[in-house]
Amino acid sequence: MRISLVVGDYLKHSCPVLVAGCFEEDGELEWITRLDRAMEGRLLPLCRQEDFAGKLDKTKMVHTLGRLPAERILLVGLGKRKDFTVERLRRASGTMVQVLKKARLERGSSLLLCVAGDEPAKIRAVAEGALLGSYEFSQYKTAAGDESAVTELTFLCPDKNVRTSVESFVAEAVCVCDAVSFARDLVSQPGNVATPTYLAEKGLEMAARQGMTCQVLEREELERLGMEALLAVSRGSHQPPRFIILEYHGDGAKGRPVVLVGKGVTFDSGGISLKPGAGMERMKDDMAGAAAVLGTLQAAAALRLPLHLVGLVPAAENLPGGGAYKPGDVVTAMSGKTIEVINTDAEGRLLLCDALHYAQRYRPAALIDLATLTGACIVALGNVATGLMGNDNNLKRSLQRAGEASGERVWELPLWEEYGELMKSDIADVKNAGGPTAGTISAGWFLQQFAGKARWAHLDIAGTAWEEKGQPHIPKGATGVGVRLLIEYLRAIC
Ligand code: BES
Ligand code: MN
Ligand code: ZN
Repeated sequence: MRISLVVGDYLKHSCPVLVAGCFEEDGELEWITRLDRAMEGRLLPLCRQEDFAGKLDKTKMVHTLGRLPAERILLVGLGKRKDFTVERLRRASGTMVQVLKKARLERGSSLLLCVAGDEPAKIRAVAEGALLGSYEFSQYKTAAGDESAVTELTFLCPDKNVRTSVESFVAEAVCVCDAVSFARDLVSQPGNVATPTYLAEKGLEMAARQGMTCQVLEREELERLGMEALLAVSRGSHQPPRFIILEYHGDGAKGRPVVLVGKGVTFDSGGISLKPGAGMERMKDDMAGAAAVLGTLQAAAALRLPLHLVGLVPAAENLPGGGAYKPGDVVTAMSGKTIEVINTDAEGRLLLCDALHYAQRYRPAALIDLATLTGACIVALGNVATGLMGNDNNLKRSLQRAGEASGERVWELPLWEEYGELMKSDIADVKNAGGPTAGTISAGWFLQQFAGKARWAHLDIAGTAWEEKGQPHIPKGATGVGVRLLIEYLRAIC
């Protein structure tokens, strides 16, 4: 979708559809009043109709029948003025593109910038909602569907003096949303395409595009490093493991790097502790943490953020082949700690523990991992929030603030030492699964054992990586969660 900016009077602007935001308290809005006058008083009664009334997520489309150069007006509800937030604006802009898609309108012009005022976050949100909402993954559809893509969106800019600043905020939103789409594409790809080797190729391509470095470690190198936990997971599959190292060094970057780690299980069958069949197809999304890391590095580079950023992606496929690791096996992680495998379906933490240990060599200013780690996190928080754990209050607070600002909310769970009891093994230093209680926390506790002295936070995105129903700015399927959250976090520490 292309976005352009036009300064000028919307009453004189010709387009297939003119989109206007509307609060539940309608009459006071300048644009509604002016449009109503041009429509000879026919718009306000429609604004007030029971099924719309400016309510959030509701819309109303009317034909102008030649009263305006615009052929149609689409009213998008913004809810009550006092409840208005950046996230609601993002949603409203998403709702706009959903309606255009269904109505097969490929072009549209939007007045939503009028509601954004001069707030950068709101201006970005208008662009983000539209870009995020227009995402689709149609690569494998050979026949056209009954919706059409929105290809061109014009934002009408209320004031020519702000044009350049609005333009730069929109350009920033494009950088971020391109990266979200990149992450969503990686997650949407089926497991027979998106293998560890494929993730590594996409990492190399992205790095070349953005002028950053990317190094890919293969099996022999991982053996030399002693990453036996990662290697153990990979043994049940013919797909060889990969360890992807991305490094972006922005101009003006000072000090130690922020290191991001993303779980890259390209398909999680559970291994010998095989998962039940129903719903197993979703486990192609078990590399959503990896996708978020690749996406965040792309966006950081595209935005030229002045910081030093490292992305680490341990990638493997978890299958129950003849060489597979088994319950009862003991593996020695790169850190030297021994791990008793209780459940081969608790494989994510085995990839992450080696990556977190590897991260120590960067002496990170902050170390953040993202992983679709536990089903228990979906039980606790649903798809509304990402689980947050960590060993540093400042880092956790920063991520919570970034969550509020980006709309990708996080919610903290405790890592009290008592939870460590669950992970004690009779024959090794730790075990990889702790039984039916506190599943998300015990996984977080396990990871903490490998985070060393780093300021570390863990984000469990099991519930937020995949959208079941579809929201205005988050279509059904892969959400690309983490990219917007981390970019917001990184911006704040620059
Ligand atoms: N990838 C799964 C977690 C998951 C489950 C994500 C459902 C999204 C939806 C992870 O590897 C896993 O299988 N975790 C186990 C851990 C258990 C065996 C300790 C789980 O949550 O059941
Ligand atoms: Mn698993
Ligand atoms: Zn998994």
